Amino acid sequence: MTDIEEKERLQKFMAGAGVASRRHSEEMIAGGRVRVNGQIVREPGFKVGGADRVEVDGLTVARRREFDYLMLHKPVGVISSARDDRGRRTVVQLLGREFGGRRLYPVGRLDFDTSGLMLLTNDGEMTYKLTHPRFEAEKTYLAWTPSLISAGQLRRLAGGVRLEDGMTAPARARLVSRAENISLIEITIHEGRNRQVRRMLEAVGLETRRLKRIAFGPLTLERDLTPGGYRLLRGEEITALRRVTEGRAL
Ligand code: URA
Repeated sequence: MTDIEEKERLQKFMAGAGVASRRHSEEMIAGGRVRVNGQIVREPGFKVGGADRVEVDGLTVARRREFDYLMLHKPVGVISSARDDRGRRTVVQLLGREFGGRRLYPVGRLDFDTSGLMLLTNDGEMTYKLTHPRFEAEKTYLAWTPSLISAGQLRRLAGGVRLEDGMTAPARARLVSRAENISLIEITIHEGRNRQVRRMLEAVGLETRRLKRIAFGPLTLERDLTPGGYRLLRGEEITALRRVTEGRAL
């Protein structure tokens, strides 16, 4: 395919990348919010190709197919790294043949006994940024504990607790339900220490029976995705991830 054949209209490119609908993209172009290779372009029919850099409000728009980004529902009993010395099953081995040889890597970790949302990608820069403490990507977990959790314990979790590797940063913690000696709490942290949520709960006297991650940065675990299931991220989800790592709003 020649370079000319690969080009597409700017508003189509923007819609395909999940920035906005084609119509809204046209308005953004007319409003002077879109640059191609550094120059403001106001003509909606302007053609862009693989080598062009498109920015909206100063933020580079991710090309949908430049890298692969997958949301995966990690089951309990699977290792979240790409390889395991002890021969246990890894999240990468859950992927079907269509992703064989694509070198997709998990972004961050979940314990062997934790389930929930994992992002896998071959975008190394994105992985670096999302796991870097400076970007502080938020992670939200559901934790089941066989106790009647008190308001004081929730306050301590939110305020920060002392662990052997230091105080935890302020978090959000709320009671979701409480029934028959099982409390379900939702906790949002933006650090990524080893077994952090389990250790935080333990520090306030709570045992973790089950732990599930339901959100990672702007991504939320899709309800229809059963453990072991995965899907490609949509364009707007990729753009939302970029927004977090570039620290700017579109
Ligand atoms: N905190 C934990 O304790 N375990 C995880 O897998 C993730 C966060």
